Amino acid sequence: MKRISAIRAIEYLDDNESIGIGTGTTVEFFIEELSRIRNKFVNKKFYASSQRTMQILLNLGLDVREPDRILDVYIDGADSVDRNLNMIKGGGGALTREKILAFNSKKRIIIVDETKVRKNIFSFPMPVEIIPFSSDLIKLNLINMKLKFNLRKFNENPFVTDNGNFILDVFLENEENPFDIAHKIKLLPGVVEIGLFENLADIIIIGKENFEVEEIKKVP
Ligand code: 5RP
Repeated sequence: MKRISAIRAIEYLDDNESIGIGTGTTVEFFIEELSRIRNKFVNKKFYASSQRTMQILLNLGLDVREPDRILDVYIDGADSVDRNLNMIKGGGGALTREKILAFNSKKRIIIVDETKVRKNIFSFPMPVEIIPFSSDLIKLNLINMKLKFNLRKFNENPFVTDNGNFILDVFLENEENPFDIAHKIKLLPGVVEIGLFENLADIIIIGKENFEVEEIKKVP
């Protein structure tokens, strides 16, 4: 299902010079497809949302740059999406760079399998990237807000992002106003970014089990 949505997204690359690429398994299917027609893309500029994606693109011999312009197009996966084009992202820990690239792109294309489409996007815990110095204080702030969360771990130690930060996964599924709470969390000192992406998808491509592909498009 992920591959089907990735294949469809290739169609949106034509005539784009600067291409942002997200992070995750769905995106890696996309890059695999891209590599088959690599010659079409050797003169384009690529922008990666993570060290991992950057390395994969460099291994293909593509021109990967630091963000220096508004991008023509950005392709990424998501952890959960709704039909209003809201998303939760950051399951792979790359949410901050992903949001920077998505915000600064003219067209955002999100590729997902149908299991990611939810009524309530917060059924996936919202990742929050935090500065390690603020970690205990942010936890206290969240406890005061009566919220449940986990510090993301990797091999028993805190997971560290490409930016040298930690991630808290915050459970908002059963909250009455999860969007409001997410906005409050974003304002806590020490929070770098939250995994709620609002208004940052122009097209969501959904790969389905029956091999069909559905596209949800932003109404202009
Ligand atoms: C990484 C992300 C990914 O887009 C998200 O986790 C989806 O990953 P996958 O394609 O592996 O299901 O937000 O930070």
